[in-house]
Amino acid sequence: MIYKLLTACLFVSVMLPGFAQEQPTRNISTYFTAEKKYLVLPVKNGATKRNLELWVDGVNTRFWDMELAEDKPDWYAYMRIDEWKGKQIELRVDKVSAASKVFDPVMQSDADTNANEYKEKLRPQFHFSPKRGWTNDPNGMVYFNGEYHLFFQHNPYGRNWGNMTWGHAVSKDLVHWAELDDAIHPNQGGPVFSGGAVVDKNNTSGLGENGKPAMVMFHTGARGWGQYMTWSTDGRNFHWYDKAVVPRINKENRDPKVIWYEPAKQWVMVLWVERGNNEQHSIQFLTSPDLKNWTPASITYGGIGNDRYLYECPEFYELPVQGMDGVKKWVLTGANTEYAVGSFDGTTFTEEERKLQNQHGRGFYAPQTFSDEPTGRRIEIGWWRTNTAEDDMDFNQSMSLPMEHKLVKTPEGIRLTRMPVKEAERLRSGKIYKAGNKTLKENSANPLKDINIELAEIHVEITPGKAKEVALNIRGVAVIYNVAAQQLVADGVKAPAPLQNGKLTLLIYADRTGLEIFANNGLMFMPVNINIDDSDRSLSLSVKGGTAKISSLEVYELKSIWQ
Ligand code: FRU
Repeated sequence: MIYKLLTACLFVSVMLPGFAQEQPTRNISTYFTAEKKYLVLPVKNGATKRNLELWVDGVNTRFWDMELAEDKPDWYAYMRIDEWKGKQIELRVDKVSAASKVFDPVMQSDADTNANEYKEKLRPQFHFSPKRGWTNDPNGMVYFNGEYHLFFQHNPYGRNWGNMTWGHAVSKDLVHWAELDDAIHPNQGGPVFSGGAVVDKNNTSGLGENGKPAMVMFHTGARGWGQYMTWSTDGRNFHWYDKAVVPRINKENRDPKVIWYEPAKQWVMVLWVERGNNEQHSIQFLTSPDLKNWTPASITYGGIGNDRYLYECPEFYELPVQGMDGVKKWVLTGANTEYAVGSFDGTTFTEEERKLQNQHGRGFYAPQTFSDEPTGRRIEIGWWRTNTAEDDMDFNQSMSLPMEHKLVKTPEGIRLTRMPVKEAERLRSGKIYKAGNKTLKENSANPLKDINIELAEIHVEITPGKAKEVALNIRGVAVIYNVAAQQLVADGVKAPAPLQNGKLTLLIYADRTGLEIFANNGLMFMPVNINIDDSDRSLSLSVKGGTAKISSLEVYELKSIWQ
């Protein structure tokens, strides 16, 4: 038997070159003079990963790994090299196949050209996603010099996680984004992990220039878990502060988010820190007068191990409570969006209610909110996982819609709500379908039968009455409300949505890569990542087991932000 197996393997490896046989490889160093704006790097999705280094003046200036295409590339990554124009550059690649001519010649380009840009089959049409490469967490969200800045965890050289760099996009209206070149690259501190940004309006750091304040970014150096700082006075050029502003505290610690605490006129940083030996999650609070010198102030403990309460990417902010005159409360959250409501005295957060949850979807993680938002709103964007690593796609993953947070008084206590920002109305194409008061019973005609739509914003206000089930079918994806369980189900994701005075209010956004469902004016948020069948453009609304009353039904066609 063993003999049979061995001969079979031998046979296969002789028959199929490459199978069970190591190709001879070599390390290459290629020398070239930087002449153009970009170095063009060929990528083949799924190819063996190679380590690359760019040496400038004897210094290892960029290092990354990538699925280097030695044959026909799926796409090209672009690395800016114009800051070294005229200089000799050494490009080192480990272990390419001996016959490879991958950097012969080295390709440089002044233009970042990509014929397929934003036209890819799986490109989300109104959610930010990077032009190329992978993204996960939103970072450094801040309003500065008339623009919303959205930085993001970016792998510029592959469509899977890696080479963590801060990508950069700007918007004037929160919905239309222009991606700029990558802003912050890995250096001796290692890959640049997540963190936040602030505008230092009072120039406490002294980093402002000629009366112009600096926008200051905080991020984790993933080599030693120190917290580092970069800044910019023009929103385009970025400078590193020379050392970690918060050295590693304990084990893993990361994702600094900084806010200004006006009553004490000082900065507050929240940072995820793993404690002890049992994966105890915690949020370390630190304070600073100048963004450079930080003093540990207090700790709020979260879950342990797989209980991910207060794990990674903390957020911390204060909001007025709707329905309670003059009352303000603080919200502390981690990456999985479980949150606490409490009070804060400038150094210590006191949880009044903990481990609450508003978000019951799939694929939503590590959200952050904008600092210095000019209208005073608390606006969040999260990483929304998509199933986009398919075919020859050159990008992967996306952000959620921007959502406004509010705190509201409910019979259960003070709760967080999320609703799309008002600016999302700018996505509407102008085509609207509206149906007023209607009753709907089993086998009634589909009130949405005339609609043929790809991107949609759907509003439904329905009183199920004696009906057992309300079913919205959105381009082949069933969103079912089970009246007895008071629960919404979509593609296997289940979320609680209690009727309010007998009524269910839904707002649903449908993009190519999924649905974002808001129930009961944002008391429940349910994003469902699913690639929607391109050929199905139909919508339907039906009920089972009784008569329901529709008080409002509106569908808006949306348009792409990439046109
Ligand atoms: C959350 C996270 C962060 C980290 C980053 C790395 O998704 O794990 O904690 O900074 O991603 O990309």
